[in-house]
Amino acid sequence: MKLTVLGIESSCDDTSAAIAENGILLSNKIANQQVHKDFGGVVPELASRAHQQNIIPVVDAALKEAGRTVKDINAIAYTRGPGLMGALLVGSSFAKGLALALQVPLIDINHLLAHILSVFIIRKDKVVEVPQFPFLCLVVSGGHTLLVVMRDYLTMEIIGQTIDDAAGEAFDKCAKVIGLPYPGGPLIDRNAGKGKPDAFRFSKASVKGLDFSFSGLKTSFLYFLRDRLMENSDFINQNMNDLCASIQKAIFDSLIIKLLKAAQQTRIREIAVVGGVSANLGLRNAVLRLADEMKWKVYIPEIQYATDNAAMIAITGYYKYLNKEFSSHRITPVARFDQL
Ligand code: KG4
Ligand code: ZN
Repeated sequence: MKLTVLGIESSCDDTSAAIAENGILLSNKIANQQVHKDFGGVVPELASRAHQQNIIPVVDAALKEAGRTVKDINAIAYTRGPGLMGALLVGSSFAKGLALALQVPLIDINHLLAHILSVFIIRKDKVVEVPQFPFLCLVVSGGHTLLVVMRDYLTMEIIGQTIDDAAGEAFDKCAKVIGLPYPGGPLIDRNAGKGKPDAFRFSKASVKGLDFSFSGLKTSFLYFLRDRLMENSDFINQNMNDLCASIQKAIFDSLIIKLLKAAQQTRIREIAVVGGVSANLGLRNAVLRLADEMKWKVYIPEIQYATDNAAMIAITGYYKYLNKEFSSHRITPVARFDQL
């Protein structure tokens, strides 16, 4: 039997829909919201409205690209959280309505589990090597930074997390300070490629165990700039690439140290890096270099599946379906990860 899952993602500012059939991705459509550009961050109310406008066209486009119709859908997987409440409500209400109309099961998805399972996104036209269990996963997104051991598809054993800001948040906040628009991560990435990572040093917090902290780095970056700008008001423009390369290096140094520590503690050599920040070329190269040295096998999703997308929701839906983990129509979205 064919198992066709529609995945829906609406946790932040991307409205996305995807179709997976028997665990193979057929389509993945994303509508990026442009309405937030002038505000330096995602405006929740505007995000909800844009999701409402985008969701039907995006689902339609995903079905068309897959060559399927609504009648082919056997299950609907949607992001329950974490994320912006108003944004999640659009996706979950749409998913519930369509599941009811089609009389198919509903599957609620933890967005962070879906990021982890993005390394299992496989397509007909491309051979993708997937991790063996157990694997160790570094999740680096805009809202979360986690180290997770995965012994099966659906259970997350969290062994480390940030005690304040997430890695993506550190990128976005530092980018804002140097005048780059939201989201700053990809722009820092681009400029960093042309700069010297050792040009400037910023003091980093040292946190015990496998946890992370990024808020101190952001403050140290801010004070550093304040002092330099007093001497030279054009300091940022004159040093943009070096600033981006140096702040990026500082963020990655902390990530890499903890990833290395976690791999040594768990003795796991199957390593995955996922989430929006895993789209970063510098991070991808740093992890691949380390993998060579440590004899790890590394799995990083293609860039289009690193940032938010519904392909990872549809694939996670497939594995939950196999495990018969369906969801009641009574459950509501959850904004925070620790309440999921
Ligand atoms: O996973 P994601 O798309 O959304 C969340 O679940 O939060 O991650 C978004 C985050 C943003 O902070 C964004 O700046 C960052 O990922 N990001 C990057 C890059 N692309 C996206 N950070 C660094 N380099 C990139 N190339
Ligand atoms: Zn995400």
